[in-house]
Amino acid sequence: MKEITLPKASKLTSPNPVTVVCTQKPDGSTNLATVSWWTYLSYNPNMIAYAMAKTSYSGEMVRLNKKVVLTIPGAAISDAVLGCGMTTGCDTDKAAKFGIELTLVEGSSIQIPIHSRVAIVCNLKEYLEVGDHYLYICDVQKVYGDEAEEGVFAWNGYGKIAPAKQGE
Ligand SMILES: Cc1cc2nc3c(=O)[nH]c(=O)nc-3n(C[C@H](O)[C@H](O)[C@H](O)COP(=O)(O)O)c2cc1C
Repeated sequence: MKEITLPKASKLTSPNPVTVVCTQKPDGSTNLATVSWWTYLSYNPNMIAYAMAKTSYSGEMVRLNKKVVLTIPGAAISDAVLGCGMTTGCDTDKAAKFGIELTLVEGSSIQIPIHSRVAIVCNLKEYLEVGDHYLYICDVQKVYGDEAEEGVFAWNGYGKIAPAKQGE
């Protein structure tokens, strides 16, 4: 083996997970941000975590409201989800810009993409400074799933979002 960088390693581990982090803006609308760095943490109690750059608008919103929904996007919105990962919601309504239809799930006032395979409704428990990111540790309130929606993954770093079997 040869020594490589951590970003290069994340390409070698491709396909990596993709979630859409849904947070509420001050006007009540939903901000959508694409995040690969998320993980299950605990089943008892149910907990998950995700890491976002300190500068992200989503981070600002979850630190403010203490509420977030993580969704696994369906294949129908792959390209739109890539767009959500290249634009900040600070001054853009990403759902409108990328044509993502939203809906509500019980137990949350944050809207989520209709085309979601999984939705995990969370309360922020705490966040930790980890280098240039914050790690958001969340208590899971509700979990929803739709097997008819095909889940997607990030290929070649952040280069492409596609189902696992069609990624290359
Ligand atoms: C496939 C993909 C995966 C991404 N994963 C992460 C991630 O794990 N953490 C992160 O901070 N940003 C990640 N990003 C970049 C953010 O989505 C991007 O910075 C976005 O503009 C943040 O939006 P916001 O400012 O509205 O929160 C990813 C982007 C793409 C396309």
